[in-house]
Amino acid sequence: MLIDRFEPFFETLSSTSLAPWVPALRVPSAARLRQDAHGDLSDWLAALDALPPIAPSRIRLDCDCVTVGDPLPENRQALLRAHLDRLHPWRKGPFCVHGVEIDAEWRSDRKWQRLVRGGVMLQDRLVLDVGCGNGYYGYRALGAGARLVLGIDPTLRFVLQFLAIDHFLRDPRLAVLPLADVDLPPQLSGFDLVLSMGVLYHRREPSAHLRLLRELLHPDGQLLLETLVLDEPGSRILRPAGRYAKMRNLYAIPTVTVLRQWLAEAGFARARVIDVTRTAVDEQRATPWMRFQSLADFLDPDDPTRTVEGHPAPCRAMLLAERG
Ligand SMILES: C[S@@+](CC[C@H](N)C(=O)[O-])C[C@H]1O[C@@H](n2cnc3c(N)ncnc32)[C@H](O)[C@@H]1O
Repeated sequence: MLIDRFEPFFETLSSTSLAPWVPALRVPSAARLRQDAHGDLSDWLAALDALPPIAPSRIRLDCDCVTVGDPLPENRQALLRAHLDRLHPWRKGPFCVHGVEIDAEWRSDRKWQRLVRGGVMLQDRLVLDVGCGNGYYGYRALGAGARLVLGIDPTLRFVLQFLAIDHFLRDPRLAVLPLADVDLPPQLSGFDLVLSMGVLYHRREPSAHLRLLRELLHPDGQLLLETLVLDEPGSRILRPAGRYAKMRNLYAIPTVTVLRQWLAEAGFARARVIDVTRTAVDEQRATPWMRFQSLADFLDPDDPTRTVEGHPAPCRAMLLAERG
């Protein structure tokens, strides 16, 4: 069963103060991974099963491209590329797997560098990455010394992408489980660091998301929050009536002032802004690994400071806050 692939991680989790989480995470994850859970699952599973059995060799988690293995001969690389491509679109990366370079839609290494430059402590920490995509940042956190990273993401395709990378990397300190924030067992807490990046604007009730994240933290824990903001002073909140940058499920884009207020209302203390960056078209772009439209198609061709709908173009802030 697919859930069995997570047993090495559950064993690692059992050896930490987070051990009580194990059954409460395993049961809902197993249900999500049932064969009938998603129409494409059997095709993705076939892609996973077709991956060649290669023992993990050279691993680099501390460089921009998460790298595993020495390059295979070109013909074997072509086959591996084809299997990994069955999990298209790859949104987060880059990865390099036995010479196959997965140039994902997002240069996620840039977001990671902003987090590191902001002074976020990772050494020996128990990390939860909510809405983690395929686990790219989890690998980077391990590369920066984290003790363990639990990633959760309700999008099954991204979980399968994680399993494809994990097939080669096999690091029992990281898992991406098919769960949403609200699926996490209540009353359990204890993470040193919770990452919520690119999730808040997808939540209908941002304040509820922040309150939930606070509950998950150890009393000394920290939240790293990254979300779309309006890069202007004051207390405005954009609530797009239709789409925003062609995205349908986007509920609220606040100014940084409002974001600080939401964090304080949720109980967080000492929130500090560690980065504000306008998203560039060479950070989010179409590639052979993500062949749909991307940021350049979402901006007004006559005024790239606006989206095609006339809203301010994407700008993201990162804030680091104490549980308080
Ligand atoms: C814009 S992506 C951000 C991915 C990554 N954290 C990053 O910053 O690059 C948003 C992710 O959140 C996930 N997501 C959506 N709703 C969620 C929820 N309620 N709980 C956890 N993750 C969620 C999506 O599946 C998607 O992978």
